[in-house]
Amino acid sequence: YDQDQKIIDPIKLVGRDLRDMRDNIATLLGSGHPLLNTVSKYYFSAEGKNIRPLLVLLAAQATSIAPKQYLVSFSDEYEIIDTPISPMLQNTTTRTAHHDALYTPSVTKQGCMILPTQRRLAEIVEMIHTASLLHDDVIDASEARRGLPSANVNFGNKMAILAGDFMLARASVSLARLRNAEVIELLATTIANLVEGEFMQLKNTQKGKNGEAPRMTTFEYYMEKSYMKTASLIAKSCRASAVLGGNTKEVTELAYTYGRNLGLAFQLVDDMLDFTLSSTQFGKPTGADLTLGLATAPVLYAWEEFPELGPLIERKFSQPGDVEKVARALVYQSNGLKQTRALAESHCQAAIDAAMQFPPSDARSALIQLTEKMVTRQK
Ligand code: FPP
Ligand code: MG
Ligand code: MG
Repeated sequence: YDQDQKIIDPIKLVGRDLRDMRDNIATLLGSGHPLLNTVSKYYFSAEGKNIRPLLVLLAAQATSIAPKQYLVSFSDEYEIIDTPISPMLQNTTTRTAHHDALYTPSVTKQGCMILPTQRRLAEIVEMIHTASLLHDDVIDASEARRGLPSANVNFGNKMAILAGDFMLARASVSLARLRNAEVIELLATTIANLVEGEFMQLKNTQKGKNGEAPRMTTFEYYMEKSYMKTASLIAKSCRASAVLGGNTKEVTELAYTYGRNLGLAFQLVDDMLDFTLSSTQFGKPTGADLTLGLATAPVLYAWEEFPELGPLIERKFSQPGDVEKVARALVYQSNGLKQTRALAESHCQAAIDAAMQFPPSDARSALIQLTEKMVTRQK
């Protein structure tokens, strides 16, 4: 796909911005409550994949040399205002307006750059994602994340939930500070979509009302759920990044199409790895989906070959032996994992087709190369 076939290391392109991200998020999460600080910063103490902020930053660079719609605001004036009740609770980390004004975007050889607002967006997106993980680990009663004991295990459910709420609130303050109504709407919608996806997941199948046929097949329902819980945030963050860059509707739409397809592929691969990786490799419990009663793509494909899986899916693998003796065994015997991989590959191809319509740049090559590696990732 690249004219010169050179391998682009995304970290060379946006490494500095990614490195700064962790410090900046710590600042955005500063409060006068030491324990709240500890819990809300906890998941940032281990290295995540940072896939969402990476995409925001690369999309910013890749679209920065595309046709522009309007001039963009360059500075991200910033200060968290918390009025302390007692001087004891003084928020010691109030700052950053000056810090960000000093930030000058680096311009690559091809003239690509990242605006301070897009850099902030990367932080906001990672905070929304991490907030959802804090809540998700409570809902799933999960015991590990990023190779650490999960926050709910370490600090209890109440604190994990509150830290997630706090993170979401601080992400919202930062979002408002971007002063861009379209971007606020996009990101607010992703938060709603995360909850909708989680709700859809609580029910595996869509039943028709009053004996009518269901609105969609079980597989369509699964894909819709995957869009809501995963692809929406990735797609709308890529779009928001392009919006902040002042790009045309056509370019922002391409960024969205890229993110949507990459996001769907990401979730399909995640659901495949739940069957094929060990918990140590993955840094979080694997084999978890069946135990949680969830029928993901590998099971839904296996069901086409082994109709006897139907009643198990219906009862959410709740009877003794359902998970290990029947469902898992049939998935391994079937072509389910192969078919899941093929579907992920087709979404990767659609993402690449969209990215190819950006002007050529190292950032575009990086977006394409990380898409190509998505299907073979092992963590
Ligand atoms: C991970 O899924 C979880 C999500 C992608 C979203 C979870 C969303 C919520 C809990 C809604 C609340 C949202 C906010 C913003 C506070 P998973 O359980 O399949 O993956 P895992 O294996 O990483 O746990
Ligand atoms: Mg989970
Ligand atoms: Mg979950």
